[in-house]
Amino acid sequence: MPTNITLEIFRYRPEAETEPVFQSYEIPFRKDWVILDALNYIKDNLDGSLSYRWSCRMGVCGSCGMMVNGTPVLTCATFLEKYLPGPIRVEPLKNFPVVRDLVIEMSDFMRKLKHVKPWIIREEEKPLSEGEYLQTPVQLADYKQYSMCINCMLCYAACPIYGLESSFTGPAAIALAQRYNFDNRDQGKKERMEALSQDGGIWECTLVGECSVVCPKGVDPAGAIQRYKVASTTEWWKSLLMPWGAKGDGRKAMGER
Ligand code: SF4
Ligand code: FES
Repeated sequence: MPTNITLEIFRYRPEAETEPVFQSYEIPFRKDWVILDALNYIKDNLDGSLSYRWSCRMGVCGSCGMMVNGTPVLTCATFLEKYLPGPIRVEPLKNFPVVRDLVIEMSDFMRKLKHVKPWIIREEEKPLSEGEYLQTPVQLADYKQYSMCINCMLCYAACPIYGLESSFTGPAAIALAQRYNFDNRDQGKKERMEALSQDGGIWECTLVGECSVVCPKGVDPAGAIQRYKVASTTEWWKSLLMPWGAKGDGRKAMGER
């Protein structure tokens, strides 16, 4: 085992640099350190000016995503050992504007997330006196996979379509729309379909599939988008074959399984 390892880190300090540069840091190598530990070592011991985001250190908050040797990863869940003998190149997530060093600007995703209405929509709420909306374990299993998303943005950094066409709603926002579409308490499928059938919606995806490869939570956004395409096509055929029936019932028109 080596005693030291080198990290080449993307630096961009807008008050000092017009263009980003890479800065090398040699740090002690420890088998039990993840990339985030290495960044914290640099910040605490070598260069306090380094900026990056993290919070939970346990793969839950989704804030520590970065490009490591060209691949989007959660830095709190990726061991230094994987990249021996180094050097390890650490960059901000691809496809996003950089605010400073390894910190990206995420407001585009936040706008898109709101656009797909990721919340329970009811046509009519029942009175409280009738009790809660019940759900069986089987109904929970219908959408649980999509609810595991931690908004880490790795899938956007891996998506070549988002890289080329920033109007694309993108993998995680569409997977989160599906999280609510498959929830038996929700009645908002039709509204979401209207938003996602437009330019920038599901049809922009060409099924490269890298989003699902890099997702640390097994959400499979590529699969979610393909299921959406099937539902949209079913709705289109129904509107052709049964123009009198397809408009009224959003749940049926969306191809409820
Ligand atoms: S779908 Fe996966 S990769 Fe994309 S934001 Fe959610 S957890 Fe991260
Ligand atoms: S620090 Fe929270 S996911 Fe990595």
